[in-house]
Amino acid sequence: MNALKWIAVILVLAISGYGLKAGADARQAAERERIADTAGKLLRATYSPLHFKPAIETATDAQCLACHKEVLDDKPRVAAPAGLRAADNLAWYQQTSTYQGEQDSFHRRHLVTPMAKALMNLACTTCHQGQDVREEAQGSSATSAPQTDAGFTLRKQVNPETTCLKCHGQFPAKEIMGLPAPWKDAKDMFQNDCLGCHAAIRTARHQVSYLNSEAIETAAREATGKKQGGDVCYGCHGGRAWYRIAYPYARNPWPGMPEVTPEWARLRPRHSEMRFLTQAGR
Ligand code: HEC
Ligand code: HEC
Ligand code: HEC
Ligand code: HEC
Ligand code: HEC
Repeated sequence: MNALKWIAVILVLAISGYGLKAGADARQAAERERIADTAGKLLRATYSPLHFKPAIETATDAQCLACHKEVLDDKPRVAAPAGLRAADNLAWYQQTSTYQGEQDSFHRRHLVTPMAKALMNLACTTCHQGQDVREEAQGSSATSAPQTDAGFTLRKQVNPETTCLKCHGQFPAKEIMGLPAPWKDAKDMFQNDCLGCHAAIRTARHQVSYLNSEAIETAAREATGKKQGGDVCYGCHGGRAWYRIAYPYARNPWPGMPEVTPEWARLRPRHSEMRFLTQAGR
């Protein structure tokens, strides 16, 4: 009786051992296949027409996310390997009245966090306009972008001057707005409110597909009571400046616009970038 029991136990162990081995073999084979890309799947996906013009111009977020789901799923570590906790390490731009929630990734802060969803309407293709997946430098080979192509910046996959700079440039307080001092020093003079002036100046603003213009004005008005209205606007106009220059915004004509164009504005376009123009408000 006892011997029979032991034989059964050994049999079960042997069979499951064989199963485990088979499983490991299959996993190894799959791993080998993935690395060698024998079916050419990775290469085909890398050269997906969606990475290039013209297809990228009409690509939807869903199409990109079908392959790049990780862009919205990945979260920063709770603590660095060295032990520093993300929650204890807030940068200067994260200590503002508009910053909410835990540390989050770059893509998530622009696409899915509450502020991103309320004030902005960015799509993958607002920033990504296609790049050579093989070489991110102009003029490096017969098939790469020619030296004259200034549509992207060397070794960058998106063009910062036509994207980031719009919301992360300096605030031209003195140069253009005639304020007596930089905003951080002048803001108390204006109750930390931009709308005091901007209820009448450059009012045809934000009529672009990647911004929620109504929501921006409402958010600023609502925060005015707490003397934080300026923080809402300043967030995109100097409060998170990664650049030492300001973006040369288009001067969309506004009701009551003076006839005379100031010297600094002579070369400014009279409407926002074509690919973002919306009909609303005009
Ligand atoms: C069919 C799947 C697929 C689709 C659809 C797709 N991609 Fe990709 N993408 C890839 C693969 C594969 C790579 C190469 C990854 C690698 O080599 O590590 C890649 C590379 C990239 C890179 C460069 C990453 C790097 O590190 O060099 C960017 C940026 C990118 N894709 C953005 C997009 C955007 C934006 C869209 C939508 C317009 C898109 N992709 C659509 C599969 C896809
Ligand atoms: C606010 C601008 C912006 C938006 C919106 C944006 N990206 Fe990016 N993305 C970037 C920048 C900047 C990089 C880094 C580029 C570099 O390294 O040169 C990047 C990098 C990537 C990469 C390379 C891998 C990585 O994570 O660094 C992929 C893939 C990618 N983006 C896909 C997407 C997809 C898919 C969407 C839409 C769901 C999207 N991006 C929306 C600016 C943006
Ligand atoms: C349409 C406006 C807009 C554009 C374009 C834009 N950003 Fe931002 N960015 C914001 C706003 C608003 C926040 C603050 C989000 C928050 O606090 O939730 C932010 C936050 C950030 C942060 C801080 C993230 C964090 O974890 O605190 C970085 C870094 C950043 N942006 C870099 C970039 C880069 C690089 C580009 C260009 C590829 C870019 N941004 C384009 C509006 C923009
Ligand atoms: C004292 C009045 C005043 C205040 C306060 C003020 N602005 Fe301005 N702003 C101006 C004037 C004047 C101009 C230039 C108008 C023109 O184009 O002729 C201007 C222009 C701008 C421009 C366009 C700059 C360019 O290069 O085209 C932006 C963006 C702007 N203001 C944002 C803000 C924000 C954000 C705040 C609050 C943080 C603010 N302003 C506070 C008077 C003001
Ligand atoms: C989420 C980021 C964001 C916020 C918040 C924001 N802006 Fe802007 N603003 C932009 C961008 C991007 C542009 C350029 C749009 C374009 O290309 O026409 C712009 C353009 C402008 C211009 C120039 C418009 C023109 O056509 O002459 C003014 C003035 C301005 N903003 C003032 C403000 C004021 C005032 C507030 C607060 C009520 C504010 N902004 C809040 C991103 C922002």
